[in-house]
Amino acid sequence: MAKIRAAITAIGGYVPEDILSNDDLAKMVDTNDEWITSRTGIKERRILKTPGGGASDIAVPAVLELCEKRGISPLEIDLLICGTVTGDYNFPSTANIICDKIGAKNAWSFDVGAACSGFIYSLSTGSQFIETGKYKKVVVVGVDKMSSIINYEDRATCVIFGDGGGAVLLEPTEEEVGIMDFELHSDGSGAQYLRQPAGGSVKPASHETVDNLEHFVFQEGKQVFKFAVINMADVSESIMKKNKLTGETVDWLVPHQANLRIIDATAHRMELDPAKVMINIQKFGNTTSGTIPLCLWEWEKKLKKGDNIILSAFGGGFTWGAVYLKWAYNS
Ligand code: UT7
Repeated sequence: MAKIRAAITAIGGYVPEDILSNDDLAKMVDTNDEWITSRTGIKERRILKTPGGGASDIAVPAVLELCEKRGISPLEIDLLICGTVTGDYNFPSTANIICDKIGAKNAWSFDVGAACSGFIYSLSTGSQFIETGKYKKVVVVGVDKMSSIINYEDRATCVIFGDGGGAVLLEPTEEEVGIMDFELHSDGSGAQYLRQPAGGSVKPASHETVDNLEHFVFQEGKQVFKFAVINMADVSESIMKKNKLTGETVDWLVPHQANLRIIDATAHRMELDPAKVMINIQKFGNTTSGTIPLCLWEWEKKLKKGDNIILSAFGGGFTWGAVYLKWAYNS
């Protein structure tokens, strides 16, 4: 019997309308467009300003878009997995809320908390439910409303992050397309460099944690940069070698959009032509779990059936990894 693979058969994305530019930020903290552009590659990011709007409100239009494109009803979804670290609530899962909002009444659903690797962790997990033959339609979401945990008086973090997300539909195929391989890693000792210090069971919310600004993202940027630049390049090179791919035979790199310098280092190690690297960090900044599906969404029309694509990410945890997929359709 031919092997069943999980193919991406539709994609949706969404970014909020409100733009926060580098010049806007320069009016809020001691920074400037030149510093942000040269150190990160970011020019602007999107912010969800809808009162009471959460990560699920970014995800819902993305999932509905993919249902419409594929011509399916949300009732046909078997499972929905949502990568996020800025869920609507600590519990229940944002995945549960998304399913409720779109009327996916036959799906079960859960969140994956892997920070910037949230989408590739979720995609790899979702692919297993298809490959075993258990399910026919699995939706994988990567979404974050980073503005909800950013201190807009801290120039070290507020210039980097934005809000946005995307979603893909996974369906079984017996063709040589879909998720071909993945390599994932985690190292919890990285928690000291990148985390949200309070609000969990170690330090529940209190007046003190609010006064100490401990509900905002804490990042030692330089340290995270060092780990990111090595590990994203290493894991990308590793998955290429395992699958006998070269810079010539890889058609696209879809890197997590944390910093243009990290993306460039990864592409360089992979010996890739820069034209094969998807980059939209200048428009959206770092949307954490949202970056990779947002790239696929924006590039969808350029992708051809059979294209060799490497997804690669590094983020809080630490978590990192790469997915090798062959694109399954022509738009
Ligand atoms: O996606 C999750 C994983 N996260 C990442 O991958 C992020 C990895 N880290 C980075 O991308 C970079 O470290 C940052 C973009 C966060 C920072 O860039 P950097 O080149 O590492 O800068 P730095 O933190 O070493 O700071 C250099 C200087 C410092 O001033 P002094 O000490 O040299 O006088 C900072 O105070 O730049 C200063 N600085 C700023 N200046 C203007 C820090 N933030 C700003 C700012 N505007 N926004």
